[in-house]
Amino acid sequence: MALSGGSTPGKLYSLLATNHGIDWEKIHFFWGDERHVPPDHADSNFRVARETLLSVVRPPESNVHRVPAEEPDASNAARSYEADLKTFFSSDGGGWPRFDLILLGMGPDGHTASLFPGTTALEDRERWVTSAWVEKFQAFRITLTFPAINHASCVMFLVSGADKADTLKRVIRDLEPLPSGRVKPESGKLVWMVDRAAATLL
Ligand code: 6PG
Repeated sequence: MALSGGSTPGKLYSLLATNHGIDWEKIHFFWGDERHVPPDHADSNFRVARETLLSVVRPPESNVHRVPAEEPDASNAARSYEADLKTFFSSDGGGWPRFDLILLGMGPDGHTASLFPGTTALEDRERWVTSAWVEKFQAFRITLTFPAINHASCVMFLVSGADKADTLKRVIRDLEPLPSGRVKPESGKLVWMVDRAAATLL
């Protein structure tokens, strides 16, 4: 499964950590995206997952596929993470990864993973993983590309809060071409888990 970042999923990860019915040895953890920071940085998506889930369920280290976002060059970090994915999904160039589950969040601007409006990452149709400069954060991000996401067996959005309501309506009703609206699994399920506050305009 590929984990999402941001503030929403922390509670989900803490709840998952208390679930004793899951054989964590069988779960490999990936990330849908990562900030260009070291793993112990406050902004690291890995750090959130480690503190809320991984430190509790303690999967084998070989099951945790962290994005090497401490790499000074974000594009090298993307290449290295992509190589890890290709090894795991045993693809030597052709094909796309088929994640069992990709968790995603959605920002008020309609971004998902680190596929932000107006960035070059949106148009990458070749790579599994790419990096892009995000002007509003004045920082690079590393992210799965749309084709890598859209080849998953199941993609699940977790969206919470009134500040997402208008964007959620625009995405669900396809009122404008927002990145979250371009998540359309080719032969997989798309699940939206939204709370009442986020769903008020649906
Ligand atoms: C990230 C996430 C990003 C996140 C959305 C929603 O690295 O920030 O992957 O796509 O899911 O920005 O974030 P919140 O859950 O904080 O609203």
